[in-house]
Amino acid sequence: MARPGSALVTVLVLAGSILSITAAPQSPNAISREWANYNMQRQNLRIGTEDNGNNLRSVLDYSFTTPLRQIQGSQVYQAGNARFRRVVDDLQRGNPVTIVAIGGVATNGSDASNPGTNDFFALYVKYLRRAFPNARIEPVRSSAGIAPSAVVAQCLSSYIPRDADLVLLEMTANDAVGMDESLIDGHNAKAYELLMRGILEAEKQPALILTQSMVPGMGNGSTPFYLTPETPQYAALASYYGTPVVSMRNAVWRSGTPTNASGIISDAVLQEDGSTPTNAGHKSMADMLVYNTQRTAEDLALLPYGDYDTQSMAVQVPEKPVYGDVAAQPSVVLSNSTCEWVHDISGNSRQCPTQMDQMCNLDHANRDNMLRTYDERIETSPRSNRAALIGGVVGGVVGGLLLIGGLLAYCIISKKRHAQRVAAAAEAKAAARRKEVAAGQGVPITATTRPGF
Ligand SMILES: *[C@@H]1O[C@H](CO)[C@@H](O)[C@H](O)[C@H]1NC(C)=O
Ligand SMILES: *[C@@H]1O[C@H](CO)[C@@H](O)[C@H](O)[C@H]1NC(C)=O
Ligand SMILES: *[C@@H]1O[C@H](CO)[C@@H](O)[C@H](O)[C@H]1NC(C)=O
Repeated sequence: MARPGSALVTVLVLAGSILSITAAPQSPNAISREWANYNMQRQNLRIGTEDNGNNLRSVLDYSFTTPLRQIQGSQVYQAGNARFRRVVDDLQRGNPVTIVAIGGVATNGSDASNPGTNDFFALYVKYLRRAFPNARIEPVRSSAGIAPSAVVAQCLSSYIPRDADLVLLEMTANDAVGMDESLIDGHNAKAYELLMRGILEAEKQPALILTQSMVPGMGNGSTPFYLTPETPQYAALASYYGTPVVSMRNAVWRSGTPTNASGIISDAVLQEDGSTPTNAGHKSMADMLVYNTQRTAEDLALLPYGDYDTQSMAVQVPEKPVYGDVAAQPSVVLSNSTCEWVHDISGNSRQCPTQMDQMCNLDHANRDNMLRTYDERIETSPRSNRAALIGGVVGGVVGGLLLIGGLLAYCIISKKRHAQRVAAAAEAKAAARRKEVAAGQGVPITATTRPGF
């Protein structure tokens, strides 16, 4: 005869295991206990005759707040990692290292409560300075605002300084605008490939870490797990070029509250767009980058930087790209992708630019600024020019050529003056901010025009 108690125990055990699958995320205390145990075991590791703990004490000294398994899951791909092993080796040797973050709103950090201090890039740089106290670490924040990969690739020289050693590229949220079409014809992926190639071919063979943030709607229940360019397209490119990938989606998904429609509600991002990281989201992004750095340092303890790495570094970026067009018609790829983006962002109310380099002069901080500066500074496609011309001629015949011509000239001049004033004001503001930041310890908030670009 079964004892009544055992049935009760079975029920409780069953209920417990169901709870552990579906229920409440771990409490902050449970998360930090788990990390503490894990890190203690790592610190006690002995490799050969070396004492890993002593070697890596400062590297492993960091408080994670994202659950361990989620951070492990955020490490999507590591490849051979020669370039990042070179960077971490330099950090350990105390060599100077320039670290560049290129990306959208997350990279700008403007929605953290204290931009420049608790956004993911600032947190990561702060960790590196503590972990590698002998290295001179120079952070460069290159905010692309809402600009997509095509525009960043076109204007790359103003985003990446020549002495970049490590580039964190955070473009998925920006590129997700108009993504459904892109999944079929891949125009964003082609532009992203050009951007990756541009970075990988930079002077110092920088390490490139694809730092994938969450796309619009992903954290407010309106975009499912799979609908992001980070998979499959950008993951394919990472595999081809052997660049590490870390994923914020993976880091935070299981902490979110599931919705009926296979989405999540996550406090890691603002609910209004489901994408812009909050303080918690920035911390998760920092956590996944720190963990990647720690694992790379441990890997160096196992097998120090050496021949395998230098041989791997000597191999050039493959001449043949994943997408044929990327080699055959790079400028068409960029203008096609930019053109699509301009249509998407303006609700089809703007024509495509005729000169791609003019896109570099826009204020990409947000949609309104982008559209305003677009109207002020961009020459658009021939169709609209021709229409304007015909309109002008007809108008001239009817209303008197001189008068119209005069008005037109006046408009152009005042438009141009206005654009110059806007640009000058933006530069003055940026200069003031650079000065402010230079005085403190934080990480500058906007793209720097420092020597070396
Ligand atoms: C969720 O995010 C999407 C995409 O950014 C946005 O259009 C939508 O308004 C957001 N939903 C809510 C409830 O804020
Ligand atoms: C550019 O866009 C045109 C028109 O949509 C298309 O036919 C062409 O294949 C595209 N070219 C590339 C290189 O993407
Ligand atoms: C970056 O954030 C600052 C505020 O912290 C804002 O003034 C600036 O326009 C943003 N820049 C871009 C490119 O998004």
